[in-house]
Amino acid sequence: MKLCVIGTGYVGLVAGACFAESGRHVVCVDINEQKIENLRKGIMPIYEPGLDEVVIRNHHKGNLTFSTDLAASVAGVDVCFIAVGTPPADDGSADLSQVFAVGESILKAATGPLVLVVKSTVPVGTQDQLRERCEQFAQHPVDWVSNPEFLREGLALKDFLEPDRVVIGANSQRGAEMMLDLYRPFVEDASQILTMAPRDAELCKYACNAMLATRISFMNDLANLCERVGANVESIRRGMGTDHRIGPHFLFSGIGYGGSCFPKDTQALLHVARQYDYELRIVQAVEDVNADQKAVPFFKLQRLLGDLKQKKIALWGLAFKPETDDMREAPSIVLIQRLIEAGARVSAYDPVAEETATAVFGDAIRSGALRLCEDEYQALEQADALVLATEWLAFRDPDFEQIRRLMRQPILIDGRNVYNAEKVKALGFTYEGVGRR
Ligand SMILES: NC(=O)c1ccc[n+]([C@@H]2O[C@H](COP(=O)([O-])OP(=O)(O)OC[C@H]3O[C@@H](n4cnc5c(N)ncnc54)[C@H](O)[C@@H]3O)[C@@H](O)[C@H]2O)c1
Repeated sequence: MKLCVIGTGYVGLVAGACFAESGRHVVCVDINEQKIENLRKGIMPIYEPGLDEVVIRNHHKGNLTFSTDLAASVAGVDVCFIAVGTPPADDGSADLSQVFAVGESILKAATGPLVLVVKSTVPVGTQDQLRERCEQFAQHPVDWVSNPEFLREGLALKDFLEPDRVVIGANSQRGAEMMLDLYRPFVEDASQILTMAPRDAELCKYACNAMLATRISFMNDLANLCERVGANVESIRRGMGTDHRIGPHFLFSGIGYGGSCFPKDTQALLHVARQYDYELRIVQAVEDVNADQKAVPFFKLQRLLGDLKQKKIALWGLAFKPETDDMREAPSIVLIQRLIEAGARVSAYDPVAEETATAVFGDAIRSGALRLCEDEYQALEQADALVLATEWLAFRDPDFEQIRRLMRQPILIDGRNVYNAEKVKALGFTYEGVGRR
C-alpha cells in the first residue's frame, strides 16, 4: 500500500514517519520548499523528541520521501492523508481553506482509486462539505475517511506508535478496511481501532479536546478560589486524582493552556454550536477561565512590584508546554505582551523555542524590550522577578543560591507549581505558586 501525506507539520510529518516505520512507502508533501529541502538533508522543521531518528532512518531506507510536487506525489498512491493546518479565523471558526484546496488538488491528480483521509482537525460536517465541493474533480472511485489525530506535541512519536485508540470515520467498508490494515501494527488489539460515522469521528476530536481543556480550567478556577480561602490546590488535586472515577490526568493548575489545539478547537466547537443556535455554556466558561488565567502572573507581578515601568522580568520557558518549540497561544505570549505594554523589560530563555520566539516577537527583540538569552541564568541578571512559564525538566531543580545572587529582587512566580515552596521561601525568596497555600 502506497501512502501520501499532505502537510509536514507536527501531525503530517509524524504520521508519515510512523507509517514508514511500519514498512509502508510514504511520500510527504509540503508547499514550503525550505521545509522539504531540509527534510531531505535530515533537518527537522520542528522540535519533537526522537523524530529525527525515525525520519532519517526511513529516508535512507527509501520508505520515506519528501516532495513539493503534490500532483506527482499523489499519482499511484492508494491512500492520501490531508494533514494541513486548520487555524482559527477571526470569528473563531476553523479556517478550512487549506483542507479544501488540497482536497481538490488531490482528486485532480489521482491516477486510480483512492482513499482520501482527512487527518486535520475539522468541524463536524466538513467531510460532507469537502465531498460536495470536490467530488466533481474525481476521475476515479474515492473512499472518504475522517481520521482525527490525538497525538500530543512532545510525545508525538509515542502517541502515534502506541495510541490509546484510533478513530476512523468511514461510510464505506473499503475505506474502513484499508484504515484497519494501516493502523493494525500500532495497536495491541484490533478493538482499539474504533470505526464510526464520519460526523461522529469529527465531533469526537473536538469533544476530547474540550473535555481535557475543561479539566484544566476547572482546576485553575479552583486554584483561584484556593488562594482566596487559604486552601492548597495541590492537596485537592491529589485527593481528586486518586478517585478512579476522576483519574489523575489534566488536573494540574497553572497559568492556562495554550498550543495549537485546545484554544483553537474549543473556539471552533463554540462556533459550530452557535451556527446551530446552541450555546455550549460549559465550553464557553472553559475559554473564559483560560483567558483570565493567562493574565494571572502579570497581576501577581503588579501586586508584588507595583509600577512595572523599567522593571526587569526574567522568564523561564516560552513554549506552550515542555518538549516542544510550539508557541501558538502560549501563556508566555500574553505575559510578554502585557509586560512590554506596562514598560517592563523581559529577559527570556527557552531550551528550544528561540527560533519560534524570534518569529513571534521580532519587533520587541529589535526594540530591546525582549531579550532572548543563551541560558536560564543569563536571563536572571539584575532581574526584579522570575516567572516560570514552562515546566521544562531543566528548570525543575535549579541552583537557587545562584538565582538569588543574580537577581536584584528574589521574587519567584511559579506558574507551574513545580518548586518546593517551603524550600525557596527558606532561601529568602518571595514565592507565589498557583492556588498553593
Ligand atoms: N499539533 C498538534 O499537536 C495536533 C494534534 C492533533 C491534531 N492536530 C491537527 O492537525 C492539523 C495539522 O496540525 P499541525 O500542528 O501539524 O500543523 P502545522 O501548521 O504544523 O503543519 C501544517 C503543514 O501543512 C503545510 N501546508 C499548508 N498548505 C499546504 C498545501 N496546500 N500543500 C502542502 N502543504 C501545505 C504547511 O506548510 C505546514 O507545514 C490541524 O488541523 C491540527 O488542529 C494537531
